[in-house]
Amino acid sequence: MTSFAIITGASQGLGRAFAFELAKRKTNLILVSLPNEGLSLLAAELANFNIKVHFFETDLSLQQNIEGLAHEINETFQIHCLINNAGRGGTCRFEEAKMAYLHGILQLNIISVVLLTRLLVPNLRKQKQAFILNISSMAAFSPIAYKTVYPASKAFIRHWSLGLREELRGTGVSVSVLYPGPMKTNLDAMQRIEKQGLKGKMGLVPPEDVAKVAITNLFRNRATIVPGFMNKINFRMMRLFESRLLTRLISNAVKLELD
Ligand SMILES: NC(=O)c1ccc[n+]([C@@H]2O[C@H](COP(=O)([O-])OP(=O)(O)OC[C@H]3O[C@@H](n4cnc5c(N)ncnc54)[C@H](OP(=O)(O)O)[C@@H]3O)[C@@H](O)[C@H]2O)c1
Repeated sequence: MTSFAIITGASQGLGRAFAFELAKRKTNLILVSLPNEGLSLLAAELANFNIKVHFFETDLSLQQNIEGLAHEINETFQIHCLINNAGRGGTCRFEEAKMAYLHGILQLNIISVVLLTRLLVPNLRKQKQAFILNISSMAAFSPIAYKTVYPASKAFIRHWSLGLREELRGTGVSVSVLYPGPMKTNLDAMQRIEKQGLKGKMGLVPPEDVAKVAITNLFRNRATIVPGFMNKINFRMMRLFESRLLTRLISNAVKLELD
C-alpha cells in the first residue's frame, strides 16, 4: 500500500518548505492547514513532482477536528511520517492578552500536537520504520517575558517528545525534535525579527534550509536537530547558562517587538 507523510500547517512558512523538501524526495504527501489558504493550489503544484498529494482544510485547535482528521487518515491512508509543524506565537503583555490569544497558543502548540500524535501512532506503527518530527524552538531554552506561553509551549514539546522517543524505542517509530531559530516565514515573523535589530537576526536561517537539514536528520533518526551554525552555538550556550540574566537579556530584546 502507498505510504504518505503528513504535514500540519503546510500552507505556508516552514510547513510549505517541508512539503517541497519531501516532494523532491518523492514522498507522497497529506497536507493540513486552515480552510481557504490555498492548499488546493499548493497540492496541484506539488503533484508536478510525480507524487500523490491529498489535503485537508481544518482548524486543528478544535478537538473534534483533530479526531475527525485522524479518523479519516487512519481509515484511508498508511503513513510513515508525521510532521507536527502547525504552531503560533506572538508578543503581548500578559495582562493585556485576550483569552482567545492565550487559549489559541496552548491549544495549537500543545494539545493538538499531543492528541493528533496519539491518534496516529497506531497507523505509524504498522510501518517497519516511521518518523515523527515535532517543531520546538530555540525559545524553548529560556523563559521569555512578553511571550511567556509560547516558549513554555515549546519547552513542553521538547520534554514530551523526548519522553515519547524513549517510550517508542524499539517499535520502529522514531521521534525527533527540531529547534529552529528565527525564520522569516510570514509578515508577522518578519516584522518581529526586524524590530529586534541585530539580536533578532542572529541565527536567521531560510525555512527551505531548515526543512532540508530537518528532513535529512529526521531520516537519520536524530533526537535533536538544530539548524544553522549560530543556532548550534546558541543551543549550547543557552543550555549551559540558563539563568535570570539570560531571561532578562532575551526579554529586553523581545520587548522591542511590543510597539
Ligand atoms: N518563524 C519563526 O521564526 C519560528 C521560529 C521557531 C519555531 N517556529 C515554529 O515553526 C512552526 C512553523 O512556523 P511558521 O513560522 O512557518 O508559521 P506560519 O508561517 O505562521 O505558518 C503556520 C502554519 O500553520 C497553519 N495553522 C495555523 N493555525 C492553524 C490551525 N488552527 N489549524 C490548522 N493549521 C493552522 C497555518 O495555516 P494557514 O496558512 O491556513 O493559516 C500555516 O500553514 C511553528 O510551530 C512555529 O512555532 C517558528
